Amino acid sequence: MMEVAFSGIQPTGDIHLGNYLGALRNWVRLQESFDAVYCIVDLHALTIPYDPETFATERLEAAKAVIAAGIDPDRSLLYYQSDVPAHAELGWLLGTMTSLGALNRMTQFKDKSDQAGEFLGLYAYPVLMAADILLYRANAVPVGEDQTQHLELTRDLAERFNQRYQEIFPLPEAIIPERGARVMSLKNPTSKMSKSDPSEASRVLMLDGPDTIVKKMGKAVTDSGTEIRYDWLEKPGISNLLEILSLFTDRSVDSLADEHAGTQYGVFKKTVADAVVEGLEPVRSRYAELDDVEVANLMVRNADRGRERAAPLQDEVMRAMGLRP
Ligand code: TYM
Repeated sequence: MMEVAFSGIQPTGDIHLGNYLGALRNWVRLQESFDAVYCIVDLHALTIPYDPETFATERLEAAKAVIAAGIDPDRSLLYYQSDVPAHAELGWLLGTMTSLGALNRMTQFKDKSDQAGEFLGLYAYPVLMAADILLYRANAVPVGEDQTQHLELTRDLAERFNQRYQEIFPLPEAIIPERGARVMSLKNPTSKMSKSDPSEASRVLMLDGPDTIVKKMGKAVTDSGTEIRYDWLEKPGISNLLEILSLFTDRSVDSLADEHAGTQYGVFKKTVADAVVEGLEPVRSRYAELDDVEVANLMVRNADRGRERAAPLQDEVMRAMGLRP
């Protein structure tokens, strides 16, 4: 039987280069050899401020963007989390086995609650994420590096469940790319590129047009030196750009650093911008061709497929926990 890959992306805020290089490219790759299930995690997105008026549109745009990035809906199952109630149910069941100590160690809660306030939904975010993954008995979870801690909690919960009730869950592995796992902000290269950064110039969006990409890359913070070198300590801005260039050209950062050692920063940034424009061109053109109604209909059909697929596992968990005869 094929192993299962599962991952999710929040539908709020536009998908940026970090999401694309850290996660989506691996989603696409894993379709080849895994039974892949990908989820627009709308319930997770409710844990930070959002606008209910535009949320339906944002969900659809996220689904389209994921397809444009290369997810083939004939091959992978793509659906909205809230269409499959078993996510929230399993989240509750796992919550009964999650210690506050474990949740208090989650660094994303600390970061996000500084902005969004301390709410139960945000606190329980990693438990719902564990439910997402375990619901499909996933073996592989393609994510960026910022999700490692959540994956560890997921494994702990799976192990605890298997011991306490019944051996139901495999222990999922995080699939983190060797490069691109932590794409940094263009404005502040010591913090990661993020949807919630108020500065739009801090991130290139997956669907940004060529002019915007060139402009944002041109303004990327480098440093006061003149040398191009792969060195995260002394040259985080340049190293981030080298890594991005490497991912879009399929060349090693070392050979790129050698080649550009004497290049002026401005010229180098234009080279990176051009590579990003070219690399994202197919994504942009696929996105433009997608029909809203067709994708919306697909998501309705996939809601049924998701529910059907989740039901047997949910039933097994309920029985193991004594909730069914
Ligand atoms: P989200 O939407 O915040 O991020 C989606 C994916 O993008 C990755 N990512 C990055 N990778 C590299 N560099 C960056 N600067 C960067 N910023 C974000 C994230 O690691 C993520 O893989 N909690 C998940 C959503 C989720 C999920 C799940 C994932 C919910 N349930 C179950 C896997 C399995 C998240 O961070 O979404």
